[in-house]
Amino acid sequence: MMLIKLGGSAITDKSKPLTSRAGDIKRLAMEIAGAEGTKMIVHGGGSFGHIKAAEFKLNEGFVDDSQREGICLVQKDMRKLNAIVVDAFREAGVPVASVPAGAITLFDNGQMVKFPSEVFIHYVKLGIVPITFGDVVVDRARGISICSGDDIMLQLAKDTDAVKCVFVTSVDGIFESYPPGKDEEPLSEVGPDTVIRFSSEDVDVTGSMKRKLDLMIEMASSGKEVAVVNGLVPDRLTDALKGNDFIGTRVKGD
Ligand code: IPE
Repeated sequence: MMLIKLGGSAITDKSKPLTSRAGDIKRLAMEIAGAEGTKMIVHGGGSFGHIKAAEFKLNEGFVDDSQREGICLVQKDMRKLNAIVVDAFREAGVPVASVPAGAITLFDNGQMVKFPSEVFIHYVKLGIVPITFGDVVVDRARGISICSGDDIMLQLAKDTDAVKCVFVTSVDGIFESYPPGKDEEPLSEVGPDTVIRFSSEDVDVTGSMKRKLDLMIEMASSGKEVAVVNGLVPDRLTDALKGNDFIGTRVKGD
């Protein structure tokens, strides 16, 4: 089993509201279709999720009635992006089932406390690839939370027999410093002892690069092969999925 996260930066233009990278999504779906084995897909929000989530301060929980509109809009936009992703997989000949996180996930004080991974396992048994995505979810203590695709990847990695977890992004891998220097090459391998300089927080509402890296290290520490590849360059994902040498970063656990 493989878990693949199509990051928001690979499938949308993060700087332009509601702008998908339609051609890249189609190619990525074809690359995934071409790799043997069972799969579960998670995608991020990019400019369909983060811009309005930040505008309505949805990462602060439900603190104001005016956020109702924001919750509806972000959920609606995420489902639009999901429909584009689902169509691309169908065109690539892959039977898929859309499973929105906001419909099935419970958070408590910003942490995922219920996520029915069994539903995903059953779709896979039927020969159907389940696709879920980062979403606005209900939270016992805070009213709402933003559940990121990375949170879902970690939970699915814990609950399934996935051996490989690939994070598809818009850069060549993980770098030694953030923001990376102009001509900086990505690290071919990172692990718990790698020193990475985080001089800035990124703007997205589900956390910084540091948090993403911590999640990946946790996944790798439980025995999964974890990789980060640039989805905007053809065949990098294919190489990572097929076990070929690939350009990108391998994440090692402890
Ligand atoms: C974000 O999911 C979902 C919303 C903002 C609603 P992710 O945090 O996984 O998205 P990307 O990959 O960083 O864009």
